Amino acid sequence: MNDSKGAAQQASGQKTATLTDHETGESYELPILDGNMGPRVYDVRKLYAQTGAFTYDPGFTSTASCKSDITFIDGEKGQLLHRGYTIQDLAENSDFMEVCYLLLHGELPNRSEKTEFESAITYHTMLHEQMLYFFRGFRRDAHPMAVMVGAVGALSAFYHDSTDITDPHQRMIASHRLIAKMPTIAAMAYKFSVGQPFIYPRNDLSYAENFLYMTFAVPAEEYVVSPTLARAMDRIFILHADHEQNASTSTVRIAGSSGANPFACIAAGIASLWGPAHGGANQAVLEMLQQIGSKDRIPEFLERAKDKDDPFRLMGFGHRVYKNHDPRAQVLRESAHEVLDELGKRDDPLLDLAMELERIALSDSYFVEKKLFPNVDFYSGIILKAMGFPSSMFTVLFALARTVGWVAQWKEMIEDPGQKISRPRQLYTGYGPRDFVPQDQRD
Ligand code: CMC
Repeated sequence: MNDSKGAAQQASGQKTATLTDHETGESYELPILDGNMGPRVYDVRKLYAQTGAFTYDPGFTSTASCKSDITFIDGEKGQLLHRGYTIQDLAENSDFMEVCYLLLHGELPNRSEKTEFESAITYHTMLHEQMLYFFRGFRRDAHPMAVMVGAVGALSAFYHDSTDITDPHQRMIASHRLIAKMPTIAAMAYKFSVGQPFIYPRNDLSYAENFLYMTFAVPAEEYVVSPTLARAMDRIFILHADHEQNASTSTVRIAGSSGANPFACIAAGIASLWGPAHGGANQAVLEMLQQIGSKDRIPEFLERAKDKDDPFRLMGFGHRVYKNHDPRAQVLRESAHEVLDELGKRDDPLLDLAMELERIALSDSYFVEKKLFPNVDFYSGIILKAMGFPSSMFTVLFALARTVGWVAQWKEMIEDPGQKISRPRQLYTGYGPRDFVPQDQRD
């Protein structure tokens, strides 16, 4: 089966492509959908009804799973837009609360909208006190992502009044609650793991300041948040806020397509983000740098990364969509230097090793030919380590920042009148029907 090149224009004005099945000799017209930007899309929704055939695309490398107005990525140009604004512009001129508003509502807020939004988020930062007992039930050495998946899933047991997804007001309250409570949950997961008392949120601080305060303050002494670190934290949040239909966002959409409540859907997204090929890569970058240990061992690890028989991959390099550069990585590279200057850690041996690895990999023909460039995780791990976060917290911070993207995408899906439960098909490769063998006759 192949599709004839070039689009035909039907009498109705609908552009179509002709698909010819050379086995049966049948031809079918597939509508072509044009987005505002990005490649054209063959609409195969009616393909099964028309042809009795499925399409096969594990990993969704050629499949648009939904339509969306939120985020656009051009992987060839290294372009990332949120509601039309470049990520560089937002990281430079905006702050995380504005970006949250933009993702949720479609436009940047004016002054009063921003004040109202910030107060709605601030108003929801505290957790139900009963949740503290829930935290205390975990082992102290639990991975904070395990704690976060559990705690966020449990929010639906504490906030019943915002789980009716058919009510727009409840959807908005749930969205605010999720964005507001994630820093509190993340900081509590950290505090529990290091055996320090939980620190309650402070409403006079900005979103990023409050998170740093809840994470690093102790009741015994005053803690002043560094403006440089708060700005870097805010920037990390902006750069991770949304990224189109990646694995965790698609997980949230799939979970939500059944009508599951938003807290359960975001917990599913967190579980998906945890993997080392996705959000877990920032932790994996640091562990890899520690494993490499010194600059003279870089060539050895580069050879391992190229060896198809070795499962080792260069963590923090490569991306499914970006095939020239990751624009988020460029912004974070600058922040990494600012933060290390502020903290007096310019001579950090791990950063030195990371920079040398970046230099060598970018001039290595394997990485150049395959267009494998440092991604956002390559730099975020370095900054977060310098700030004092243990590597187990890196993915937690990614989840915190990505919550707004998940929520915006979930809302968009629920509010789409054409929304259906996600139910992919399969290419079955197992046995055909066969007779049951009683246990005493099995080999
Ligand atoms: N090190 C060595 N080789 C690599 C790497 C790497 N990091 N990434 C891709 N390749 C090779 C891969 O072996 C393949 O080679 P070949 O064509 O000879 O089979 C080729 O490059 C294409 O790779 P792919 O696996 O088909 O690409 P993908 O789109 O399926 O995978 C990826 C994308 C991000 C999972 C992968 O690049 C990877 O595992 N990177 C390391 C993990 C990482 O940094 N992940 C964070 C992604 S950014 C954060 C986010 O958005 O979640």
